[in-house]
Amino acid sequence: MARKTMLKAASRLALALVAAPVAMPLAAQSTEPETNDDAKQEWTKSEEWQAAAAKALQTVDQMEDTERVVVTRGYRAIPFPGSIPEEAIPGAGYIPGIERLGIPPLHETDGPLGVTYIAGLRNDFATPFPSSVSQGASFDPALIERMGEIIGSEARAKGFDILLAGGANLTRDPRNGRTFEYFSEDPLLTGKLTGASVRGIQSNDIISTVKHFALNGQETGRRFIDVQIGRDAARESDLLAFEIALEIGEPGAVMCAYNKVNGQNACANEYLLTDVLRDSWGYPGFVMSDWGAVPSLQAALAGLDQQSAASLDNEVYFQDQLLARAEADQIWDERLDAMNRRILTSVYRFGLDEVPADPGGEIDYDSHADFAQEVATAGMVLLRNEGDIPPLSEPPKRILVVGGYADAGVLSGAGSSQAHGEGGPAIIRPYGDIGPYSRVLTQQYHRSSPLKALRARYPDARIDFRDGRYVSDAVALAQVADLVVVFATQWMSEGFDLPDLSLPDGQDALIAAVSAANPRTVVVLETGGPIVMPWLDDTAAVLQAWYPGIRGGQAIADVLSGDAYPGGRLPLSFPRSTQDLPRPDVPGALELGLDFTGSEPSPGYELVADYDVEGADIGYRWLARNELDSLFPFGFGLNYTEFSFDEFALEGVRASVRVTNTGERPGAAVPQLYLLSRNGQPMRRLVGFAKTELPAGEARTLDFDLDRRLLADNRDGYWIMPEGDYEIGLGTDAETIVARKNVRLPARRWRNGG
Ligand code: BGC
Repeated sequence: MARKTMLKAASRLALALVAAPVAMPLAAQSTEPETNDDAKQEWTKSEEWQAAAAKALQTVDQMEDTERVVVTRGYRAIPFPGSIPEEAIPGAGYIPGIERLGIPPLHETDGPLGVTYIAGLRNDFATPFPSSVSQGASFDPALIERMGEIIGSEARAKGFDILLAGGANLTRDPRNGRTFEYFSEDPLLTGKLTGASVRGIQSNDIISTVKHFALNGQETGRRFIDVQIGRDAARESDLLAFEIALEIGEPGAVMCAYNKVNGQNACANEYLLTDVLRDSWGYPGFVMSDWGAVPSLQAALAGLDQQSAASLDNEVYFQDQLLARAEADQIWDERLDAMNRRILTSVYRFGLDEVPADPGGEIDYDSHADFAQEVATAGMVLLRNEGDIPPLSEPPKRILVVGGYADAGVLSGAGSSQAHGEGGPAIIRPYGDIGPYSRVLTQQYHRSSPLKALRARYPDARIDFRDGRYVSDAVALAQVADLVVVFATQWMSEGFDLPDLSLPDGQDALIAAVSAANPRTVVVLETGGPIVMPWLDDTAAVLQAWYPGIRGGQAIADVLSGDAYPGGRLPLSFPRSTQDLPRPDVPGALELGLDFTGSEPSPGYELVADYDVEGADIGYRWLARNELDSLFPFGFGLNYTEFSFDEFALEGVRASVRVTNTGERPGAAVPQLYLLSRNGQPMRRLVGFAKTELPAGEARTLDFDLDRRLLADNRDGYWIMPEGDYEIGLGTDAETIVARKNVRLPARRWRNGG
């Protein structure tokens, strides 16, 4: 039986859920239309989305009863433990189609760094890109968009329709085990890069998510931790990153998070899923749950559209139970229609119903790996360079390479984002016995050996390697080498956090001993995030290479030799100690243990993270607010050349600056604009940035549009800028301001857009 639409009632319901508008302060001029629909993000009103929504409406109209709960329920597509639907491609998830209505089945895969391969179950590989934090260090949305295009094209060629990518969470705590999977601690940088990667991915007739919505700040107790934060502060920080990512990327799907936010599970959180995402921003696509993140059927009314991998939850809510409620109750009936409409709107918007079932197509892994190498060098951050040892202008005669399995490859981060290059990992180091996950959660090294790359670069040099297990042996060889390169690793994974910011496995002692034995010691860091460096003053140079992906070894050798330059700036602060973080201990660490999060809390145990401590002042903003110096600040990175900045101009919210490469080598400059004070009140907020690659001697003028949202405060969903003096600093990092300008700006109050 075809069903009548109840659109009018549904939109009445949506309107009823909108928070009442707040009274407008006298001094502020509203510059945006007042109705909810007009205030929504511009892209949500585009012809493409409207046409897709209209088509979805027609399909939903024709649905038979049982067809109404087909696309709302997802299946796992990893066959352990248990089996998966026959038609599913092994991957993250699968949603059956409805042939009669031309609705295609949806195959889902992770992830943000390349199509994942799920413990070798599919007999293929992909191009693993550098970690997201390394991409964050590129400060280069155009580069990350091109990367998205490549990852999306590989996913499409492998038959996937949805890529689970676009991690837009902010790094509130660098010990978070997923720090490597997120771009940065800053909402503007994260929003722009997430949006760019999603746009690239979706250029391939494929949907990308943005995830994990929202405030998914740590892994310890991730399924039950309650993150507490005032709404305004959330809007100015984590939600702002999503807001920007959405308007740039137009993602087909949003994945809600495991954690609770202010007492409600993120996947059943009416404020997040309905008030903010739908009613305030106007998001027309669908919300899928994270895997095993749905607490109850009620999540549907809060705004969740699809229960992913439903067998992972306590019950399969979004199938028979949902249909039964819809048949008995009009509100649920309307909501079920809306859920179907939203899912199908995204399916049609990206033409998934028109893609051939087996698109095939050759994947050019070589050229993709070349590009992965470009991304890696663009994200490498030179933290220290005393005596200009890199770039190695004089080929060294005798080099000692120590540690980090540099003879075999480069480290990668683990969890659902783990991708594999051809041939699989070079080295697999087990985590331990964690049941069925033991085979996926391992320390894996991509086949790109820095040692081999250095040997290829310097065929006439003697290059020894020591794994670093015996400090005395490494020290003895360091004493007779012209140059020592120590590789230091810090492994991170989804599923657990780090206890502190030290290098594990005694590496600090190894670096200290080797650099004491040879002052020409260069440390290459393959870490997921910041670390502390007790040995720093004794080293000649430190290069932050992060987890550099499938060509990481070559990228490191290129940067050390000077064939390439380190293009990156820190996308997160390196604090001097965990004492300088808003929470010196990871919430729950002592009670739960920093272990793989399979464990459930003991009855009655409630885990709360108080994010109101820092509110929107994350990372460098927190350090500035507390007048704390970092070890290395947000935005910092050295060059092999020099840059000068002049002609800094500011008019309204438009700024420009001329950058000149005054040194002798090419390099990348990343001028950053910070709001330093507003009507005399000190603050530190990134309001604009740009990156330019310049050959020696060349100059370029860069233009910036300051994002007004970073000049404003959020009050009940409205951005509010007071009239007055705004002091804008031109910085080479968050702590180094090289020029300042003041501008007088009028009061302004609005809902969406920067
Ligand atoms: C992760 C998601 C991932 C999903 C599917 C979850 O555990 O949090 O990021 O996309 O699994 O693999």
